[in-house]
This record gives sequence, structure tokens and C-alpha cells, in this order.
Amino acid sequence: MLTLSDILEARPRVRETSRHTPLEHSHTYSAMTGADVRLKLETFQRTGAFKIRGATNRIATLSEAEKEAGVVTASAGNHAQGVALAATRVGVDSKIVMPEYAPISKVKATRNYGAEVVLSGADYAEAAERAHEIEREENRTYVHAFDDEAVMAGQGTIGLEILEDCPEVETVVVPIGGGGLISGIATAIKETKPDARVIGVQAEGASSAAAALEKGEVVTIDGVDTVADGIATRSVGERTFEHVDRYVDEVVTVSDSEIATAIVLLLERSKTVVEGAGAVPLAALLSDAFAYDEDETIVPVLSGGNIDLNTLTNVIVRGLVETGRYLKIRTVLEDRPGALDDLLDTFSKHRANIYAIHHDRTSRDVGMSDTEVEIELEMRGHDHVEAFLADLRSEGYEVDVLV
Ligand SMILES: Cc1ncc(COP(=O)(O)O)c(C=O)c1O
Repeated sequence: MLTLSDILEARPRVRETSRHTPLEHSHTYSAMTGADVRLKLETFQRTGAFKIRGATNRIATLSEAEKEAGVVTASAGNHAQGVALAATRVGVDSKIVMPEYAPISKVKATRNYGAEVVLSGADYAEAAERAHEIEREENRTYVHAFDDEAVMAGQGTIGLEILEDCPEVETVVVPIGGGGLISGIATAIKETKPDARVIGVQAEGASSAAAALEKGEVVTIDGVDTVADGIATRSVGERTFEHVDRYVDEVVTVSDSEIATAIVLLLERSKTVVEGAGAVPLAALLSDAFAYDEDETIVPVLSGGNIDLNTLTNVIVRGLVETGRYLKIRTVLEDRPGALDDLLDTFSKHRANIYAIHHDRTSRDVGMSDTEVEIELEMRGHDHVEAFLADLRSEGYEVDVLV
């Protein structure tokens, strides 16, 4: 098992490449929850996520001969960039295998951090297979993304920073993918302050840690489906499972809608870009996925901010839908001049702002003398949506809510 002294030893090494990230009190989330919420902003870490910490510590523990031979890993996400930069900063050669479909932005970022990127395989498993071949062929060291004690110890330095910047911490909330991040943080917290709670959070569509804890052993789930790609993992590791089992007080799950709402809130209220995996701790807090007391000092670890712009666009729309600020409806009008005008009068009355309108006289779904209209609207919240829909219906419009 990892110990506090492993994490303390990791600290000066990790400082060579990584930042001590800010921990900031949030007035907004404190007011929303009644707790005393302090955000650990690992989104401001170099490369945009915590992964550089673990990679740095793993690489620092290599022998001179191993450093000479270089490292290899497989990843389409934050681990790729973390290993690339950690290796480059200490003059170690790195090769990162990414699946062929990997987004070009991630490939470029990883190359920019100094790694040689090898595109191979249709998915992560195939890329990992190729990375293990390279490990054998070139005698490189494979840097595991989570199931390695030196990696966990590096991630655990986040726990030390939390204890230092917020000694009164009562609960730390951490995302779980493979479990390396929470293993390190939980070891640091529990060995220093055993009565502080550590809560793990997974996406509903990738809840392998919750399943493993229930069964008492590592469980590989059949598939994963979540917007939080950083934690879309089919199982925790053998080593990380032992730490989660021993130190983590509770593992909870959140839905993609809850994650989207948290991302949008963080953008709008905190001016902070957070990826899905990084937003799950706040999503869990805001959806009351775990119980907490009034004024409890809670630290959600916002572990990363590398969200793809297309994903972010979808998430924003989803977040707007969840908060009643985007509405898409369909209705049927008589096909006569002025019918659309009459409808739009009700829109004006409610100050429902139109994003887009599609008026289709040829739709096969309506009668020959009718026309179908689909409208996308900017709204001001659920109450606004309800009053608006009620009014439309009372005026005789049949309205389907599409989104
Ligand atoms: C942003 C982010 N948060 C959380 C995690 C989960 O970390 P772990 O796999 O160590 O549980 C990852 C993993 O890639 C990540 O990229």
C-alpha cells in the first residue's frame, strides 16, 4: 500500500514540473448548498489536468539506464499530455500510442509537449497492445495511467496541497476513473486527518468502482457511456481498488445531465472551463449525491479542463436545456397568411427569444391545409417555460416539446 511518506517524497519531484494549483472559496456554490465550498482548481495545472504529477513521479523513480531507454504509454487523453511534458522536462524520450481516431487537437498537443506520437489501433485497448509491444521491442518503461504506486503518489500531492491550504477541510470530493487520483489523495488525507471524509464520484454510465466495492473485488463493466471521457473506464485497477476500499468513505454516481449542468455553471458563474471528468465532484455536491452538514468545509477537486470544443458546444446546449434556458418545440398551424404572426404574438408577450424557426408546408405529418413549425427558443428558466407552454396550449396550439 501507498503511504504518506511516499507522497511526501514525491512532492519535491512533482514541484519540478508542476504547479501548486489554487484552492478558492466559492461564494456561489456555498450559497447554493449551505456548505463552505472551496474549489481545488487543478484545471490550472500545466497541460490542463493533474496527470503530469503522477507521470513526473514515476519518471523520477526510473534508474539512469531506464531514463536513457525512454518511456511509453497509451492514452487518448490527459495522461498522454502529462507523460509527454513530464518526460520532456527531465530530458527523457517519450512515445505515446494513441488510437487512430484520436482528436487531432490532442495529437498536436501531445506532440507539442515533446512526445513522439504513434497512431495505432481502433480503440484504447488496441493502442495499449501496441504500446506494450513497443515496451518490449525498445526496452522502454510503460507508464501506467493509474495502477502504479509512484503514479498514485504523484497524484496524492494534491491531497497535501489541500491540507496545507485548507487545514479545516472536512470532505474532499474526487472523480474516479481508474482510481489513481483518488488513491493518492485519499492516502494523503486519511493518513494526516483520519476524520476527514473522502467521497469518490463516477459517471452513472461508467460506475465500475461502485460495482467493485459492492462485490469486494475488481469488476469490469460491459461498456461505458458518458460525456466525461476522462473517467470512461471499464474497471478500476487492482492496486487502486485496495486503496479505494480502504480509504474512500463513499462512492456516488452522477448523470450526464448533472455533469452538463455543473460544466455550464462553472463556465457561467466561475469563468472556468472544466471537462466532464473534472466537473463530477461539483455535480455530486449540487445534486445532493452525498449528505453533508450546514457549513461543512467541502473541497471538490476539479481535476481537468481539457474539453473538446464540439463536446463543449453539446454540453452547453444540454446545460441550457436542463436549466430551462433552451427550448425546442413543434406545433401545427393553419396554412394561411397571418397564422405564424398570431403564434409569434404569444412569443413576444412572453419575451421568448427565437434562435431559429423552421416552417414546413410540405411535411407529410400534417394535413394538406396545415403547416408544421419547429422553433428553437431562448428562455429564462423552468418557470418561464411552464408559463409560456401553458399559455400556448390555452390558446389552442398543440405543442410538442422536442428538447
Ligand atoms: C480530468 C480527469 N479527471 C479524473 C480522471 C480520473 O483519474 P483516475 O483514472 O486516476 O481515477 C482522469 C483520468 O484520466 C482525468 O483525465
